[in-house]
Amino acid sequence: MSQTAKDIKPNATYSEIRSEDLEWPKHRSPEYREYRRKWNEYPKKLHVPDFPLCLDIETTNVCNLKCTMCSRTIQIEDGTYVDIGTMSWDMYKKIIDEGSKNNLCSIKLNYLGEPLLDKYIIQRIEHAKKHGVIEVMFNTNASMLTEEMSHKLLEAGLDSIFFSVDGINPETYNKIRIGTDYDTVVNNIINFVRIKNEGNYKHVQTRTSMTVLPGMEKEAEEYVKFWLPITGQVGFGEWVDARGKGTIKISGTKKSGTIHEYDNYNPDFVCSQPFQRMFVMYDGVCTPCCIDVSRGYELGDVKKNTIKEIWKGERFQKLREAQISGRYPEIDICRTCYMPHSQKNTEM
Ligand SMILES: C[S@@+](CC[C@H](N)C(=O)[O-])C[C@H]1O[C@@H](n2cnc3c(N)ncnc32)[C@H](O)[C@@H]1O
Ligand code: SF4
Repeated sequence: MSQTAKDIKPNATYSEIRSEDLEWPKHRSPEYREYRRKWNEYPKKLHVPDFPLCLDIETTNVCNLKCTMCSRTIQIEDGTYVDIGTMSWDMYKKIIDEGSKNNLCSIKLNYLGEPLLDKYIIQRIEHAKKHGVIEVMFNTNASMLTEEMSHKLLEAGLDSIFFSVDGINPETYNKIRIGTDYDTVVNNIINFVRIKNEGNYKHVQTRTSMTVLPGMEKEAEEYVKFWLPITGQVGFGEWVDARGKGTIKISGTKKSGTIHEYDNYNPDFVCSQPFQRMFVMYDGVCTPCCIDVSRGYELGDVKKNTIKEIWKGERFQKLREAQISGRYPEIDICRTCYMPHSQKNTEM
């Protein structure tokens, strides 16, 4: 595939602010830096590696919260959510075994669900690290991040942890993140950072992030002021309304015959994710990206095929070809995605 002058943003799913004196990057290996180089370069070159650089593995889609903005909560309320379960150890082992033979660089151990509710979470981290995965990470609501759990995660080899804290004041947070409370979560995160700093874990990356719901933009400045000195990185994610009614809804209305007549069509857009990563749901179903909460574009199933077969398979190639040739609106999930219109691009 050849190089083109396209609109390609390697990290368009969020924006991020970093402290100037971040310690963890100085303690990462040359292999990590090489992986990040590939992460940024492959989408720009439209290069499809033989194996995904990163697998987003939904170890469990069980959750203890009912956050009002979460696609999971919305689908459960709509009655459209899939069954709830946890990935079997055998399936996980099969994925990591194949990954380790194919230089899998990174895994993110969550999709829709709370990774700290996964009874195998510590073993999963240990197993992946033992099998050469360079970066093991996940997002967490931090409500169950006790001191004991913090020690176990760090000892198991967790490389990066991203805390989801929506809002800078208890009123906002407690209205959104139903099932826990602001003070518990803030204390848990502060304790985790303390334990990390007291131990030999200088390479561990922490970030606090907020999904920005309408009206929450005004909290951003105070949020950064509070969290940046604690976690060193602060992220802001665009809210995707699973009901399709949100502020960033892209209608994709087709006015007449050609794709150029879709609303908001960006002819230069190419999504970076199909050149970097693939998502594996708890039951083995694979999907192309973080947006596809309804499994609208299933790529395959690890119970029937290898990761490599699915990654290089006809379905994924069809989506990539549509992206590369500017025909992304022909793929339903891409047509309704906010990414072609996002201004975000940060280096992770
Ligand atoms: C789905 S959660 C799963 C991991 C964990 N339970 C947590 O809350 O971090 C991962 C991230 O997705 C974000 N998220 C959930 N629903 C979203 C939506 N509809 N639009 C944008 N981000 C969303 C959450 O705020 C969280 O930061
Ligand atoms: S904790 Fe995470 S997965 Fe659970 S409802 Fe909230 S955002 Fe969704």
